[in-house]
Amino acid sequence: MDLHLDLDPRLPLANQLYRQLREAVLSGRLAGGDRLPPTRFLAQRLQVSRKTVSEAYEQLCAEGFFHGRAGSGTFVSQGIQRTAARAPMQSASALQPTRLRQALTDAHTPLRQRASRYNFHGGTTDKQLFPFPEWRGCLQQALRELGRTPGFYDEDAGHPPLRQAIARYLAISRAVSCAWEDLLITQGAQQGLDLLARVMLEPGMCVAMEEPGYPPARQIFLAAGARVVGVPVDEEGLLVEQLPDDARIVYVTPSHQFPLGMPMSLGRRLALLEWAGSRSALIIEDDYDGEYRFEGRPLESLQNLDRHGLVAYLGTFSKTLFPELRLGYLLMPPGLQPALIHAKHLSDRHSCSLQQRALTHFLVSGGFARHTRRMQRVYGWRRERLLQRLHSDLSPWLEPIVPLAGIHLAARLRLAIDEDALAHELRQGGVGLLDLRPFYSQPQPRGGLLFGFGCIDDKLLEEGLDQVRTSLSRLAAI
Ligand SMILES: Cc1ncc(COP(=O)(O)O)c(C=O)c1O
Repeated sequence: MDLHLDLDPRLPLANQLYRQLREAVLSGRLAGGDRLPPTRFLAQRLQVSRKTVSEAYEQLCAEGFFHGRAGSGTFVSQGIQRTAARAPMQSASALQPTRLRQALTDAHTPLRQRASRYNFHGGTTDKQLFPFPEWRGCLQQALRELGRTPGFYDEDAGHPPLRQAIARYLAISRAVSCAWEDLLITQGAQQGLDLLARVMLEPGMCVAMEEPGYPPARQIFLAAGARVVGVPVDEEGLLVEQLPDDARIVYVTPSHQFPLGMPMSLGRRLALLEWAGSRSALIIEDDYDGEYRFEGRPLESLQNLDRHGLVAYLGTFSKTLFPELRLGYLLMPPGLQPALIHAKHLSDRHSCSLQQRALTHFLVSGGFARHTRRMQRVYGWRRERLLQRLHSDLSPWLEPIVPLAGIHLAARLRLAIDEDALAHELRQGGVGLLDLRPFYSQPQPRGGLLFGFGCIDDKLLEEGLDQVRTSLSRLAAI
């Protein structure tokens, strides 16, 4: 046991030791049955004489707090009544967040995702189908490797073999060409956003993002003190001509607009790059679930089209593996690399070495490619079935926006329906399904629903959609 004790050399040592050990028993830090460190060991650690420690132990034995067992040491006695815990905290602490942070907390409306029988939550993957035995093998291999390293911090930007494996994967599967040294491993896409905001923004600067858009991104920019301007999207994506002139960052989801789902057209991509080039603005391309493509040829990424080094490309393993892994990557624009790596160092030094190595093995062994190929088929079937239902028995109420990629799709309500009442009905029917309101910064005349199809199996998908129809028909009989 490593017991924290702090002795003042100017005061009687045995008495201080006695008081601190007694306090530790009464407060519960030392529990009945705990074995005390041997006197010689504790004396050495505290740099006092062994006699000092023995005196304190003897006194506590005499008072019944400790007892000795011949040959096995000194133990804390059982059944000692604890004194009251520390005085409870005053509810209103004198510590207050800055006004900026307070405003952010006030504005924060978390996306409520409750456990439900019919789980249509956006962005969740099917863990039932994840090859955990294979992943366990990768973790074990990673542990063995780590055991052989000298035991110090890893590289800030991430484990080089992982960055090399991701660079190969991006070149082959995503038409994103990069040098592996340009990749920074992050704790999910979220940390990539945070680091970019830290190195690019000062309070009052303007950030433009799609409206509707991804609320955690909006929150990050607000937390940095930015003025966040929502720019509308149409069926081709962001309306570039409506960008505010002074935007320092433009955050977009071109493969699969979040949350509506359409891809950004090539024309808009080129217009956005030209716009950013003329102002030296940073474009953040969040390619959060572009791995799953169901129709058409993938459009070239903004990163690949960029000739000015103005695109930061964000990827994540949350949608291909699972979100608790917290692993993502940021393809850094050249001008920001030293600042981003330093910001990562200050934030958490580097991402978890064990997970980084395990993921390297999963990528290099082909496990990742096998898993994503399989999930592409599974999600493809679910998407197809969902679209069939939205085009048939659900069509009187809902109009889907057909996505080419990703694991969620949005559908607009055709009729004016009280969305609070609809949310209540769906909850009552065991359906976990978000409406589109939290993704807009301004109230919208026409509502909609966001169907995630990542973690609902085929049978529950059908039953869940029956339940959605029942809820809709209760509120708007056709
Ligand atoms: C638009 C968007 N970007 C990024 C992410 C992934 O974030 P992370 O990698 O932090 O889990 C999500 C997850 O839902 C998302 O919807």
